[in-house]
Amino acid sequence: MTKAVKGTHDLFDKSLLYHQTIIGRARDWLEAAGGREIATPIFELTEVFERGVGTTTDIVQKEMFTFTDRGGRSLTLRPEGTAGVVRAYLEHGMKVWPQPVKLWYAGPMFRAERPQKGRQRQFHQVGYEVLGSDSPLADAEAVALSYLILRDLGLRKITLRLGSVGDLEDRRRYNAYLREVLKPRAQELSADSQRRLEANPLRILDSKSETDQRILRELAVRPMLDFLGPEAAAHLEQVKSLLSEMNIPYTIDPSIVRGLDYYVRTSWEIHHKLLGAQSALGGGGRYDGLSELLGGPPTPGVGWALGIERVALAMEAEGLSPAPARPLDIYVAALDPDLLPLALQAAIRLWPELRVEYSLSSKRPAKAIREAEKRGARYVAFIGENEARSNTLTLKDISSGEQVTLPIEEVKSWFESGGRA
Ligand code: HAM
Repeated sequence: MTKAVKGTHDLFDKSLLYHQTIIGRARDWLEAAGGREIATPIFELTEVFERGVGTTTDIVQKEMFTFTDRGGRSLTLRPEGTAGVVRAYLEHGMKVWPQPVKLWYAGPMFRAERPQKGRQRQFHQVGYEVLGSDSPLADAEAVALSYLILRDLGLRKITLRLGSVGDLEDRRRYNAYLREVLKPRAQELSADSQRRLEANPLRILDSKSETDQRILRELAVRPMLDFLGPEAAAHLEQVKSLLSEMNIPYTIDPSIVRGLDYYVRTSWEIHHKLLGAQSALGGGGRYDGLSELLGGPPTPGVGWALGIERVALAMEAEGLSPAPARPLDIYVAALDPDLLPLALQAAIRLWPELRVEYSLSSKRPAKAIREAEKRGARYVAFIGENEARSNTLTLKDISSGEQVTLPIEEVKSWFESGGRA
């Protein structure tokens, strides 16, 4: 028997309900805030991610599903949503729309990571991007929304870690500092980090190697936050005071390093206390230079993405159920084989307003009730000789046992008025 590829999952029943609940709540908030939904392609030219996410990141170096199409082009399954959204903003001239443009999305992302709890190769994100504003208000709005959506889903054991990765010039100074302090221990670093030392020392900070992390601790490496220039520092102060005024609780994480290179200034992550190693439910930040990396004009932006599977795990860990699926309204059963076509006809007349299933074989009433119960239907509807002759349905309330016979064309409005005759 063939199986789903390692690191991928089928979504159905409860897992799908969690997804729908999370996306639904995010949609409510993000559309209320003026966000418009966007669906970008699942694959892009590889250069979109190489330029956007950065060639020295783990994502680009090790985790992309890249393939060559029949025309010899290098394509990549999107490992994240931001680069594609900014590409679309530029391609469709959204710069002439009223700014900022707020775009939200939900969909699958692909990273060839080692699968474990909370880490898949195909996973899903819901994300929000605010393009065309460099105001700290936009940062505070984005941070607040990412937090409030999770709170609204019922999550309580979450912590918001806020920091800044500074401006490009600040990062250059920080990288120079990292090179200097790490050079004497370079031989001990992992092979990856020895390469990073030249190309992008900042990436050593999020190395997964234990030895690298031990060396960083032993050297008491100073955090990025110590290297902020006056502008980035002032920007962070403004975001902090805006969040405090909104009563959004946060802790300052002086050494926040996001796994993507496009960030400048504000960066944050939201972690869950019960999730263990993969505790980040989401993260985001400002990415003012991304547009230019993709060949566009300077366009400031800020945004975030939540990992839907991880949010679902967190909800489960806190005992939170997804919104239930809408139950079946009516299970229709013909009492005689000759009347079976009428069961289908009745269903077609009641769709799509009502949720109706019908039995494909005739049933005695007691059996029909059992079948209706198994499917969680509110009513069972019988079609016998009388109903067939008078074009009616006899509806029996599964929980109360009450019964009513109604002309088929009145059933919808009877349901709309609450199911009382
Ligand atoms: P990210 O931190 O790489 O940011 O991913 C955001 C979230 O996606 C993570 O916090 C995590 O919950 C989830 N996630 C990431 N990788 C996996 C995986 N392999 N399995 C399951 N869940 C995963 C971004 O992707 C940025 N594009 C966010 C952003 C938007 N920044 C600005 N705008």
